[in-house]
Amino acid sequence: MSSRGEPSPPAGATPQDRRTSWRITSTCRVACSTSRRRDDRIHGVAQPGRELARARELVAGATRAVALTGAGISAESGVPTFRDAGGLWHNYRPEELATVGAFERDPRTVWEWYRWRRGFVADCDPNEGHRALARFFLERGEAGIVTQNVDGLHTRAAREEAGDGPPDAALPVEIHGAIARDRCNRCGLRAEPGPEEDSLPRCEACGGMRRPDVVLFGEMLDPELLERAQSMAARADLCLVIGTSAVVYPAAGIPMTTLSAGGSIIEVNTEATGLTGVAAVALRGEAGVVLPLLLEP
Ligand code: OAD
Repeated sequence: MSSRGEPSPPAGATPQDRRTSWRITSTCRVACSTSRRRDDRIHGVAQPGRELARARELVAGATRAVALTGAGISAESGVPTFRDAGGLWHNYRPEELATVGAFERDPRTVWEWYRWRRGFVADCDPNEGHRALARFFLERGEAGIVTQNVDGLHTRAAREEAGDGPPDAALPVEIHGAIARDRCNRCGLRAEPGPEEDSLPRCEACGGMRRPDVVLFGEMLDPELLERAQSMAARADLCLVIGTSAVVYPAAGIPMTTLSAGGSIIEVNTEATGLTGVAAVALRGEAGVVLPLLLEP
């Protein structure tokens, strides 16, 4: 538990097999648990002039764009990130909370943590970054959004920005799952969560134990979703990499697919990452500020 009495997840996940799986390799790191709200986060774009103009040119010239997003895009909505200062990953060791083994050993604790996050996310709204990205893909109807986030905020932005129209072009491929949904740990049946309860929820079809429908460390990603994401990246000539530390694979390899196919990367992040060096342009700033400047006419 954190000092605020909230359960918090563990630190440091890195890939073992970059193509298909995850493995936790480091122990926990203690960090501030304070979540950040939009009004104390926005500090603008560090280099709005030339770099932004170059990035806008790339966007205008692209025929198919894909976006890979991470926790940073939701930071201004009040959803804590994982690894940067103020991030969520602290206090618990990964194996106690977010692994298949943890769920088998102590499903109640794992459920407690995910229910807390579920409740937290339910109180958050999409920010200007989600909305600008949704409008961009709704208008241009190109490759689309791949997200590591499980918070559902891209989906909400897509529906809200589409109004009476179809939101499909801006609906994300959620490669790490969706926290608002349950899934049976035995038969895989997906289901809406029941009312909040202390007991461990069971599958209506097979009686197996239900779990949150998110990828746990040590698990494979859904191969169909990963294939969709990779093929979107392979067909794109521009990959927008937004608010991700780009350290967790296979997601972090998606921009490299666009690059290998001859496309370019634009990074939007408050900090440099391992991808900064290969990005055609790296825009330093908060996604909610930078994305409208980058994507709006
Ligand atoms: P991280 O917490 O690792 O990285 C967040 C990134 O967002 C950092 O690079 C920050 O610098 C940047 N950032 C923070 N605020 C920002 C803002 N307002 N605008 C732009 N950038 C900002 O989160 P992810 O990269 O998403 O997996 O983490 C990847 C995966 O690791 C998650 O999906 C999660 C975690 O373990 C699972 O839970 C399966």
